[in-house]
Amino acid sequence: MLILSIESSCDETAVALVRDGREVLTDCIASQVPLHRIYGGVVPEIASRKHIEAIYGLAEQALSEAKITRSEIDALAVTYAPGLIGALLVGVNFAKAAALALDKPLIPVHHIRGHIAANYIAYPDLKPPFLCLVVSGGHTMLVDVKDYCEMDILGGTRDDAAGECFDKVARMLDMPYPGGAALDKAARGGDETRYPMPHPKLSGNPLDMSFSGLKTAAVNLIHNTRQKGEEINIPDLCASFSASVSAMLIPRTIAALKQTGRTTLAVAGGVAANSRIRGDLTRECEKRGVRLCLPPLSLCGDNAAMIGAQGYYEYLAGNLADQTLNAYATKSMEGEKL
Ligand code: KG4
Ligand code: ZN
Repeated sequence: MLILSIESSCDETAVALVRDGREVLTDCIASQVPLHRIYGGVVPEIASRKHIEAIYGLAEQALSEAKITRSEIDALAVTYAPGLIGALLVGVNFAKAAALALDKPLIPVHHIRGHIAANYIAYPDLKPPFLCLVVSGGHTMLVDVKDYCEMDILGGTRDDAAGECFDKVARMLDMPYPGGAALDKAARGGDETRYPMPHPKLSGNPLDMSFSGLKTAAVNLIHNTRQKGEEINIPDLCASFSASVSAMLIPRTIAALKQTGRTTLAVAGGVAANSRIRGDLTRECEKRGVRLCLPPLSLCGDNAAMIGAQGYYEYLAGNLADQTLNAYATKSMEGEKL
């Protein structure tokens, strides 16, 4: 089954062609990151406008790159939630129009389910059940993937997402938006013990996390050091901060593996590209004989191939939409039907 998939939830317009949920024929991305960089973050109105400008041409490009004609498309899949509402609406309306014009099924895909499905592309033999650590710019959570379309959130951040904190600290250090990758690079060779970070204790669900205290500690440290006229050691601060984020994520991930008895751990979302987190997860999973699925960096960030992958399984589960499909800025990924 050949799916044309569309992603426009934030600052990348993306169109892909994916066969049977696993084989990516083409994955075209028009990134707006350089445009938003001058503002230090995504400007929603600019994002929407740029999606409108890019989407049609990108769909044409995807078809011609894959040498596929419109009549060969079996269904349309689109990210309908969560994200910037104006940005999501561009993809949803494009997909609705294409589904109507081609008389093909329309498959709504939750963005976070899509991130998880990036693992099906990277690991063609991967099947549920497995545990997934989702770490993106807007979400941080541990998900028990019981089946392709049946998932439970076991725990998650109570405040900021890990990616938001990486970006905020990077911005304080004058790194260009989105700073997570630059901070990661700067941390290499740094001394992670130089700037001790707090270890927040949380009551309640032991799988919940909190990142705002770490972010505030790093931001205050930068302010105070600058106010005293002293120099920050950037590699040391980046290494200390990355280590503190990893120390929040890894023990809870291990605890979730124990709680569920799952023997496979998948990782998803843009922050899954972080070298410290990747290294720590690799070591901890090896120690415990847990299979670790770490998608390549190109599949960690936003893309449309992951939407096509999840779209296939949503289609098999009968989760289809009609022309009344709407977009939602927030929506749980835990499986309610539309
Ligand atoms: O999943 P994603 O592409 O978009 C959302 O759905 O949010 O994630 C983007 C986030 C940004 O916060 C970006 O700074 C972060 O992923 N990121 C990283 C790295 N690469 C991207 N954070 C830490 N280390 C990295 N290497
Ligand atoms: Zn994303």
